[in-house]
Amino acid sequence: MKVVVVGSNGQLGSDVVRAFADNGDEVLPLTHADIEIADGESVTNKLRALEPSLVVNTAAMHHVENCELQPERAFAVNALGARNLARAARDIGATLVHVSTDYVFDGSKVSPYDEGDPPRPLSVYGNTKLAGEYFVRATLDQHFVLRTSAIYGKSHCRAKSGLNFIQLMLKLAKERGEVRVVDSEFVTPTATPDLARQIVALSRCENYGLYHATAEGACSWFEFAREIFALTNTKVTLKVAGPDEFPAKVPRPKYSVLENRGLKRLGINTFAPWQEGLRDYLGVSPSHTAAVTR
Ligand SMILES: NC(=O)c1ccc[n+]([C@@H]2O[C@H](COP(=O)([O-])OP(=O)(O)OC[C@H]3O[C@@H](n4cnc5c(N)ncnc54)[C@H](OP(=O)(O)O)[C@@H]3O)[C@@H](O)[C@H]2O)c1
Repeated sequence: MKVVVVGSNGQLGSDVVRAFADNGDEVLPLTHADIEIADGESVTNKLRALEPSLVVNTAAMHHVENCELQPERAFAVNALGARNLARAARDIGATLVHVSTDYVFDGSKVSPYDEGDPPRPLSVYGNTKLAGEYFVRATLDQHFVLRTSAIYGKSHCRAKSGLNFIQLMLKLAKERGEVRVVDSEFVTPTATPDLARQIVALSRCENYGLYHATAEGACSWFEFAREIFALTNTKVTLKVAGPDEFPAKVPRPKYSVLENRGLKRLGINTFAPWQEGLRDYLGVSPSHTAAVTR
């Protein structure tokens, strides 16, 4: 397969490039310097010149506070950018894998969201990503829209330029000896190499549509931190943060756990429990005792 990866030097994009290359595919990585997805002409010209059979879009404007400050730009990238890629893919007969988010949900459920649950985003980011999903689904039959959650990888997240949650927890533990983390927001931490492998597996089939794609299980950010410290034998006092200690500038879903129902139905769900992805990331042996079982 000839595969274009858009956002190829991003946190997820870097692992997507690696996963397709490991699979023996021809990979054409595109960074933001190579393509501007908000510009339809740039997208059409690039894809026409490269003629891939598959396009994987990992590019987005996903810093939630910046999206609130610049809603037009967020819509241009997350919604129109997705449409531009879908149109260009349709014109050259390519399939599009488009990465979306758990933030399309409002978090009012208390059990995992599946693909049939109605979305109701709380933020500009969530709304523009949902609009992007709709554009892709309305424009191109040969699409896979994948919603994922709380991703982390070895390459840093370019939009949030800094440390990922794991690195931040370890840094704070070392510097302060005490760390306080919220226990009221539930997600599924998903390692980017695992998501990248799932994208490769899904791209081999023709069951186009919308898929949830996260590691198995769920945890609060507090439980995620507890597991990080347990697996790294970090000496730290971990406490639950008070309800007003870290006030969010932008509303976020309290519960955005996703169920990979579509992938399971096809029998191609390759994800393991989130603790396994974390162990791999930290380079910890599988026999190490897990702290969190929820
Ligand atoms: N991070 C999370 O926890 C999370 C959770 C759920 C879903 N997602 C989704 O997962 C995907 C990947 O996230 P990530 O963490 O890997 O992001 P990332 O590290 O910020 O990478 C995004 C990539 O897209 C490029 N890009 C941004 N705007 C672009 C544009 N207008 N045209 C072309 N390229 C552009 C960036 O280049 P520059 O940096 O040079 O601009 C970067 O290479 C996104 O769709 C995001 O919405 C993320």
